[in-house]
Amino acid sequence: MPANPGFAGPSSINKISSTAPTAKPMSDIIAAALGRRAFLQVSMSAACAAVMTPWEVVEAQSTEFEATETASDLFQFAGVSVSQRDHVVVPDGYVAEVLFRWGDPINGEEPIFRGDASNSAEDQARQAGMGHDGMEFFAIPGVDSNSGGLLCINHEYTDQILLFSDGIGSTNDLAMPTEKIRKSQAAHGVSVIEVAAVDGQWRVIRSKFSRRITANTPMRLTGPGTKRIGAEVLGTLNNCAAGRTPWGTYLTCEENFHGLFGTAAKNFAPTPEQERYGLAAKGYVYNIAGQEVSAYRWWDEDRRFDLSAEECDAERFGYVVEIDPLRPESKPVKRTALGRFRHENAELTLAKDGRVVVYMGDDQAGEFIYKFVSTRPYQSNSTSEFGVDSTGGLLDDGVLYAARYDESGRGVWLPLSESQMSADQIAVYTRLAASSVGATPMDRPEWLAVHPKSGEVFASLTNHAKRAESNPANPRLQNIYGHILRWREDGDDAAALEFTWRIFLLAGNPAHPNPERQGNVNGSEFACPDGLKFDPSGILWIQTDMSSSVMGNADFAALGNNMMLAADATSGAVRRFLTGPVGCEITGNAMTPDRCTMFINIQHPGEPADDVTDPLQPNQYSQWPDGPTGGRPRSATIVVRRLDGKPIGA
Ligand code: FEO
Ligand code: CA
Ligand code: CA
Repeated sequence: MPANPGFAGPSSINKISSTAPTAKPMSDIIAAALGRRAFLQVSMSAACAAVMTPWEVVEAQSTEFEATETASDLFQFAGVSVSQRDHVVVPDGYVAEVLFRWGDPINGEEPIFRGDASNSAEDQARQAGMGHDGMEFFAIPGVDSNSGGLLCINHEYTDQILLFSDGIGSTNDLAMPTEKIRKSQAAHGVSVIEVAAVDGQWRVIRSKFSRRITANTPMRLTGPGTKRIGAEVLGTLNNCAAGRTPWGTYLTCEENFHGLFGTAAKNFAPTPEQERYGLAAKGYVYNIAGQEVSAYRWWDEDRRFDLSAEECDAERFGYVVEIDPLRPESKPVKRTALGRFRHENAELTLAKDGRVVVYMGDDQAGEFIYKFVSTRPYQSNSTSEFGVDSTGGLLDDGVLYAARYDESGRGVWLPLSESQMSADQIAVYTRLAASSVGATPMDRPEWLAVHPKSGEVFASLTNHAKRAESNPANPRLQNIYGHILRWREDGDDAAALEFTWRIFLLAGNPAHPNPERQGNVNGSEFACPDGLKFDPSGILWIQTDMSSSVMGNADFAALGNNMMLAADATSGAVRRFLTGPVGCEITGNAMTPDRCTMFINIQHPGEPADDVTDPLQPNQYSQWPDGPTGGRPRSATIVVRRLDGKPIGA
């Protein structure tokens, strides 16, 4: 999710800067859009007739890595330069290929994406959603997992200008028609697809496992929260980062759900709990000509999203959702014991005694880092049967903690059970419980990652526009570049109640005239760390979400487009591995077991920093990945591999 979503992504609270909105009345935009509709339909029709061959999507390019970088025993590739080009750039000897774009059919065959965005809601429910984000790769029994398997892919949010042919979602004067709401709901959620390397080329193939999970898919709720909110709900939304369990299931994490809820009720006044979760009458808003416009007015047609309605589902979103990719008939399960907040990822590991530990971040400035420790241990000989029936409810029964980072370099896990709130309240109003026990407010926690050998935990703090006061773990008052923390649990046991922490790095640009913004990165400069994941060799892959990389923010201009870097936790070396196309965010990271194929997501290419863009020109900022005739930029999963067939990065 972009820090400053240009079109309609629900995270206005995440803005780190804003540029003046383009003074263009919505009425002009709509009129112009309608006038040009026929032209769009004609001009796109040629491209709609067949599955399009992706336009140029990759360039290999290498530069010497920064002289300031110390050596790394972990990675050997030649780093790439910062880039402002509308391409994916990878090091010499590597190739990147587009695999699965927004609108591509999940069975690899049909319905075919139409470049003028005229696919119906029904089509969309059988095609890739928008806003590709977290992702995991799963083996299929009987299939060589180095050349085939399942990908579970999150679709975080929809961009109405690209989603609809006329480029119009809702405005303050214009409700969204039911068909558009349904299409937007169908473009949220998760894709499960089967992929295989056929003659060396990875493809999406027809599969009994193919599945779309959307805002309307029936699912269960489990854990202590059910006492308050019941055990049934439709849909998962704002699926940001992800995780996986040892028993073969996928964890998809609901982040900016607040933006989809609102109300037209005149007398609506949010409760303190709703305010703390950012739930407001207008939902997610963006600015047109200085006026706040609701991006998603689903609540006009769908009472589940109306904050004033009895049947409002706002308290049934904001959870970690478990999905069994091998059982397409199974219902996803929202695990309320893991708390309700703007979940980023769910990094699962095991304590020394086998208890399940899940590290999680709440992505809002001033919110917290959490961990869940199960009551019972995981039995490693468990079958991979889905959910509570096979795992004894491991993710439903345990203790939820929030982190406090002390000046001494020591830290404490504070049990939320000491908050004086009941178990069901803690599950549903988790933020309030964490505040009351004295957790440390953080600079927007994004992903957490556990080192595969040492068990050390790393957490990305992506940015914070302006703190009232700093604290030792978040030392910059104006932390626009973000930083990464690391800590070691006492006794190297993930279930420990205390830990020792330090700052791994402060991101920044060493050439910046302001010393506070230079950072201390040992190697390639970058900002706004977001995606964080260790591969089995111990390389820490960092993905960035610099919202204003190209347009609108001079601080970021020198850093170019968003990127992915490799870091060595031992030497501290950081080297840029990949740069994305214009306006995108790099996210999602999965590998085959042999580490020779890496899957990466390119989210929201072409998204500008401004809150306003021109719906008549959906490809005005980026033509990635389909090129000049493709009609509009599309989020996509790409495959990265080495031409010599060796492991990535090594
Ligand atoms: Fe969806 Fe906090 O990124
Ligand atoms: Ca993120
Ligand atoms: Ca982000």
